[in-house]
Amino acid sequence: MTRLIVFVLVIIGLVSLTYLNGFKSMPRSNQAFDYKTYKIEQDDKQKVLEEIEHKRLAALEPKEEVIVVKAVFKVDLNTEGLRRGNKLYSKCIVCHGKLGEGKKSQNAPKIGGQFEQYIVTQIKNIKSGIRVNKVMNPYVKRLSVQDINDLGEYIAKLPW
Ligand code: HEC
Repeated sequence: MTRLIVFVLVIIGLVSLTYLNGFKSMPRSNQAFDYKTYKIEQDDKQKVLEEIEHKRLAALEPKEEVIVVKAVFKVDLNTEGLRRGNKLYSKCIVCHGKLGEGKKSQNAPKIGGQFEQYIVTQIKNIKSGIRVNKVMNPYVKRLSVQDINDLGEYIAKLPW
């Protein structure tokens, strides 16, 4: 019986010795716990986690599909005046643009969609010289009253 007790004690002793030895060789430092550094480290980790979460959520969101609709604008040439106006307007496109949107490089203003009466008056005034417009004058001086009215009708139908 005594032998058994001694044997058990020796075993316990050996086990504790190995355990304590291991504890002794564990690395440790005397550095004081620095809360500031700890906090910064934790915050950095938090940030990284948040970023990952953000990316995960972004990937889950359904992507919006952008549908590009290019509207093709066409004036419905349903009157004789509009048909003539459309033909006559081909000479004005260089400066005022296909849709009468104007061209900055030419200093030509937007005229598409302007009131018909206003356009007619301006062209008449430019033709007669009441309104001085040297660049446009050669294009309007041979226009008849009918031509000017048809141009006005057509230009007024262009998008504003
Ligand atoms: C060489 C370039 C050029 C061409 C071609 C041209 N225009 Fe112009 N147009 C101008 C410029 C520049 C002005 C602005 C002049 C000013 O400051 O008064 C103008 C002004 C106008 C205006 C007055 C706009 C407003 O808001 O007061 C009308 C209307 C007009 N043009 C119609 C026409 C028509 C119709 C034609 C074709 C027959 C034509 N233009 C061809 C350059 C041009």
